Amino acid sequence: MSHTQDRVPLKARKVSFSWEDTPLHWVPGDPFTTHTINVLHLLLPAGERWFVHVYKQVLPYIRDERLREDVIGFIGQEATHSQAHDEVLPHLREQGLDPTPYTAQVDWFFEKLLGDRTLPPGKARKWWLMERVALIAAIEHYTAFLGNWVLNAEELDRRGADPTMLDLLRWHGAEEVEHRSVAFELFMHVDGNYRRRARTWASAFATLVFLWQRGTRFFMENDPTLVDGKASFKEFYVRGRRGLLPTTGDMARSIPRYLSRSYHPSQEGSTAQAVAYLASSPAAMAAEKGSS
Ligand SMILES: [Fe+2]
Ligand SMILES: [Fe+2]
Repeated sequence: MSHTQDRVPLKARKVSFSWEDTPLHWVPGDPFTTHTINVLHLLLPAGERWFVHVYKQVLPYIRDERLREDVIGFIGQEATHSQAHDEVLPHLREQGLDPTPYTAQVDWFFEKLLGDRTLPPGKARKWWLMERVALIAAIEHYTAFLGNWVLNAEELDRRGADPTMLDLLRWHGAEEVEHRSVAFELFMHVDGNYRRRARTWASAFATLVFLWQRGTRFFMENDPTLVDGKASFKEFYVRGRRGLLPTTGDMARSIPRYLSRSYHPSQEGSTAQAVAYLASSPAAMAAEKGSS
């Protein structure tokens, strides 16, 4: 099946953000929503660096020029995302919320546990590479899900969320929607084994839920303005109902979609909406001006 109708050439937009006017609770009066979304700044710098690291190793296995171009575009976008989220961390530190204890663990997780391992060239090394390519495809199902969610999360605007943070999230979210098919198509091209897809989905999903709830708890407990900051599933559920976070129902429904044999990421989100946001994003427009 061809999905080329939705294809746009992928380019990295060299965005930059200045954080001095962004308050600690950038969703006003709602530290829980703020910190749940802030977990992105903890996971993505190391996570997206790891995507780039793995994809550079898989390039020699690609026998399709169009896909190779997409993967190279994807690498450029993910490297920029990683850096943009990393640049939020000093701002959190200045506001008394030092993320280092948590990011040190995340770095270990991606660099050591999911790193190259000392495998001899041959079958074992290829197996581990394919396993990671499949993991990235599963994770990208969720980055596209979240990207699509944030592009449509109008409740954040109504609550007066900080415009710079919203632009970071939506610029990133739009690029996630824009490149949402690349990781899956790459996996199908180099391997495509269904059991591997299902197995790595389970690992990716369980790990994301684990790291996310831990990250939210870390922020809530270390927020210097909160006396007894806590995170709970109930808080998450309630924010979902209010449109401030993804709903648990939408998250549950996304599972069988990825595991369906007819899944293709082009069925998720809207390229037209992503491209329209990127054409009006303050950061993307400034990047465009700077590069022309
Ligand atoms: Fe990304
Ligand atoms: Fe991505």
